[in-house]
Amino acid sequence: MKIAVLKERRQYEQRVAITPETVKKYCAAEQSVSIETGAGEASRISDAEYVAAGATMVADPKNLLADADIVLKVQRPLLAGEGELDELSLMKKGSVVIAMLSAYSSPESVQQYAQAGVSAVAMEMIPRITRAQTMDVLSSQSNLAGYRAVLEAAFEYGRVMPMMMTAAGTVAPARIMVLGAGVAGLQAIATAKRLGAIVCATDVRPASKEQVESLGAKFVMVDSDEMADAETSGGYAKEMSDDFKRKQAELVSATVAKQDIVICTALIPGRQAPMLIDETMVRSMRPGSVVVDLAVEQGGNCVLSRAGEVVDVDGVSIVGRVNMPARIAADASALYARNLFNFIQPHVDTQNQTVQFNWSDEIVSAALLAHEGKVVHPNFSNAQGEA
Ligand code: NAI
Repeated sequence: MKIAVLKERRQYEQRVAITPETVKKYCAAEQSVSIETGAGEASRISDAEYVAAGATMVADPKNLLADADIVLKVQRPLLAGEGELDELSLMKKGSVVIAMLSAYSSPESVQQYAQAGVSAVAMEMIPRITRAQTMDVLSSQSNLAGYRAVLEAAFEYGRVMPMMMTAAGTVAPARIMVLGAGVAGLQAIATAKRLGAIVCATDVRPASKEQVESLGAKFVMVDSDEMADAETSGGYAKEMSDDFKRKQAELVSATVAKQDIVICTALIPGRQAPMLIDETMVRSMRPGSVVVDLAVEQGGNCVLSRAGEVVDVDGVSIVGRVNMPARIAADASALYARNLFNFIQPHVDTQNQTVQFNWSDEIVSAALLAHEGKVVHPNFSNAQGEA
């Protein structure tokens, strides 16, 4: 079967869905791999490396996709009117497109996959069960985002992170607060600790307390019984009550005023990110402080953050960079490409040189949005109907 990989064309994207390492693995599994010329450039992968691994480079996306059975992407395909190329229209009927399809933020695209007759697999919807851990793109990318957020903060911060005792005197360590201690938040804590900062963190899920403390950071906790019920069965946070929000605002306000850096990572799946830092809190920080808002694409945890911008509020920098994993593209691509291979690999039939997806498999069906001309995911089929 032919696996095709397009160059990513969306703004801010630097990643690619395949690496020479995974090209070799697909080839060893008797699949043929074709890649758009220059697809790996922004992730520091040359065409020559892909060719050496066994891939064929194709300059024209039309030729690349015309006979492709599986199309691998990082972001959802461009649709008519979205950019220089209508990528979806170039995919052959019956092909399988696998990417982070952002289905909840672009539900209209799901119907278009069905109409195009492609099977659309949304990697971000793979269930977080043990068997799927190696395919978990949310974890692989959030982990890197958390790391990079601390480096962005260090870059904007006009001071050093660790305590330094020098002949010229002592420099105080930076104080960092992390809001949200999920995958990104925990990596931000670990990274900030490695750089020598004094770190505290908060979350609504009580389970995160132990994880934060095991990294050597202080857990700052809202005094509320509601926390016992803050976690869904899937391990995600729920939207909290107004009373909880008021108590949390008091706690965050008192803590933020003493911080040099705040890293915001709090998210609630399928909803706007919780607003945790208001303007008064920002203005309570001393000039030179930094807020990095990783939640900016979901509305932000800080009321003043702007997507794609670094805003200066009386000397406090509010970093609203979007697509943080793409700012560390080589490693983000390497992990994402492995996630994709691990998803496909169980369905490879080496003997017949094909990939036979088991559409009823728990992992595949949870991520399958459209198949055989229909919208098949229950969260979208009602709204979108059949093609
Ligand atoms: P996420 O990206 O949806 O949210 C980030 C964090 O923000 C979460 O820890 C959440 O509790 C927190 N948050 C939400 N509202 C908040 C508020 N008002 N104030 C403070 N914090 C708030 O979550 P992520 O990082 O994807 O992880 C969610 C859960 O999934 C965690 O329990 C994690 O351990 C678990 N997980 C399980 C995996 C597996 O079993 N394979 C893999 C990865 C994560």
